[in-house]
Amino acid sequence: HVEKEVVSSNNGVFEKIEEENLNAMVLFGSQTGTAEDFAYRFSTEAKSKYKFANSTEDLDDFDFTDMDKLDPSKLLVFFLATYGEGEPTDNAESFIELIESEDTIFSSGNGVEDRPLANVRYAIFGLGNHTYEHYNAMAKRVDSAMNALGAQRIGPIGLGDDAAGLLEEDYLQWKDEVFPEIAKVYNLKEVREEYKPLYDVIEKPDISSESPTVFLGESSRQQLKGIVSKAPPSPANPFNSTPVVSRELFKNDTRNCLHLELDISGSNMKYQTGDYVSICPMNPSQAVDELLDILGLKDKRNMVVIVKPFNPLDKLPILSPTTYDAVFRYYFEICGIISRQLIFLIAPFAPTDEAKNELTKLGSDKDYFKANVADMHLNLAQVLRRVSSGIPYTKLPFSLLLENLGHLKPRYYSISSSSLSCPDKVHVTAVVDRKEWVDQNHIFYGLTTNYLLAHCLHQNGELTPHPNNLQYTLEGPRQKLTGKIPMFIKRSTFHLAPPEVPIIMVGPGTGIAPFRGFVMERAHLASQGVKVAKTILFYGCRRSDTDFLYKEEWDTYKNLMKDSFELYTAFSREQDQKLYVQHRLLQQSALVNELISAGAWFYICGDAERMAKDVTNALATILTTVEEDGAKRIKSLRDENRFLEDTW
Ligand code: 2AM
Repeated sequence: HVEKEVVSSNNGVFEKIEEENLNAMVLFGSQTGTAEDFAYRFSTEAKSKYKFANSTEDLDDFDFTDMDKLDPSKLLVFFLATYGEGEPTDNAESFIELIESEDTIFSSGNGVEDRPLANVRYAIFGLGNHTYEHYNAMAKRVDSAMNALGAQRIGPIGLGDDAAGLLEEDYLQWKDEVFPEIAKVYNLKEVREEYKPLYDVIEKPDISSESPTVFLGESSRQQLKGIVSKAPPSPANPFNSTPVVSRELFKNDTRNCLHLELDISGSNMKYQTGDYVSICPMNPSQAVDELLDILGLKDKRNMVVIVKPFNPLDKLPILSPTTYDAVFRYYFEICGIISRQLIFLIAPFAPTDEAKNELTKLGSDKDYFKANVADMHLNLAQVLRRVSSGIPYTKLPFSLLLENLGHLKPRYYSISSSSLSCPDKVHVTAVVDRKEWVDQNHIFYGLTTNYLLAHCLHQNGELTPHPNNLQYTLEGPRQKLTGKIPMFIKRSTFHLAPPEVPIIMVGPGTGIAPFRGFVMERAHLASQGVKVAKTILFYGCRRSDTDFLYKEEWDTYKNLMKDSFELYTAFSREQDQKLYVQHRLLQQSALVNELISAGAWFYICGDAERMAKDVTNALATILTTVEEDGAKRIKSLRDENRFLEDTW
């Protein structure tokens, strides 16, 4: 960490742009890598379409106090994710602090008042989720701070919305508006020439894929060399945990829910009750096979390839050397919905004219794409196979996929255990994601929950067919990691109130996860003689005998906590009319009012689209009095950090 600080303070952003003679710098503030992927795509398009020399960089790697030296011939492009309750991502913290501070003095010796960035031009795209109160807060904050410092924005501010899977379309719309603006301002002409790959992909039949220099799922060069990093586990350095307990909490024809306990002893990792666990998945064998097959690479799956950028200043998108199989199994998103832009880019390399026309249409017609690809959740291989009737795409340059596929990202889940009672174990509660289109004979499998399911089945020796019987190698680098789950802890702001503070929790379905941790913790405290305040849980599921999560545990907690714990259940499908958690909440209006007046914290966890809104409305009704408006009361609870949401 110390080393990085020293390096970064020497690395002026202006200096770098001058040194490498760049037109632009594309900077990302990214937590899980989505903003980073978009930044790379933008950068690639700027290079290939306009010969606009640029470099994609992590915001944290630069010192921005020399940014005032930039002149209008240079451009800064920001890709900024908003995290949690409107917070910056870790790597954007220093940057936002710098530009929002009243005291910052830039290299020219000018402070905020003097509009020191009057010569700076920038473009900006934010990644957010409209179901959160602070929608795209980071992009908005950076935009207004840059503006206050005198900088000029090119094009509109892009506000990408991840809520309904619209991020991709929002990005495409923004970049289609912003590129012509950039072209106008910088007098750029679109270079209409043939596709030129950014990376040279050299096949090495003479090197064995077993060679110790070849990356087969390792997450870093260090790991390949067998060096155990002392740094805290992170996406580039996950901890390989063992699932010591795994079972299905319920299982029926259409749905099943998993409970796993990951051993983190010896990891140097600590978590707080309410934090997230980030799981680093791999792609299932079926998906890897399908893709290698349609690309005509099946026979070369274990061919060692060395990837090199043609321009030495360009960064490599993968760890090289590796194999075709490993690229798709461990490093890229191949199971998610293929991006419309990638379909368009692949079209010229289709094996038949018919396929080419169809891909062009899918790539350029937003509605046609939505109906035929996005709504069906089709991935790259499935689209390619459908449009060419299985004829392989042997002319498709591999570099084009390296340039445009997203990197395989960790997925995070609310930890369902208490760090006080289980310091060495992280519990995960997850419904296995699976969608079926019966008439189309198509099934979409959620990547990470199916990966976790495969671990459960492997651990329990269950080899019988399962509705989601995807096959994973379940092996990490060099097969040493069989059965291990790479993971790390992600901090949250959704934490448990001190024991003397009453809490009200609303968490139907798997929204129960963090609350199981909360109740477990308070029960543990109670068992040690600590006095705990009222702990009220509203839980909802379909039926008491099918999907009631941790049904057998609640009595144990009640026995330990006595009157301090109360569970109110809403079984939605046990009567003619739907009965939901908000109905139970309304029935307990007096209690809720009393506890809120006594300083209670109110938590909601689960579905963001409808449940969280309905529950918030119910709470507003409960808190409305002759003198006071309930919605305003919620707003002030929010400001006091007593109204906390963790929704998706
Ligand atoms: P349903 O599926 O029977 O409609 C967990 O998913 C539980 O949340 C289920 O019992 C589900 O009921 C219920 N649920 C669905 N929509 C909801 C909403 N808008 N508010 C609260 N609970 C809801």
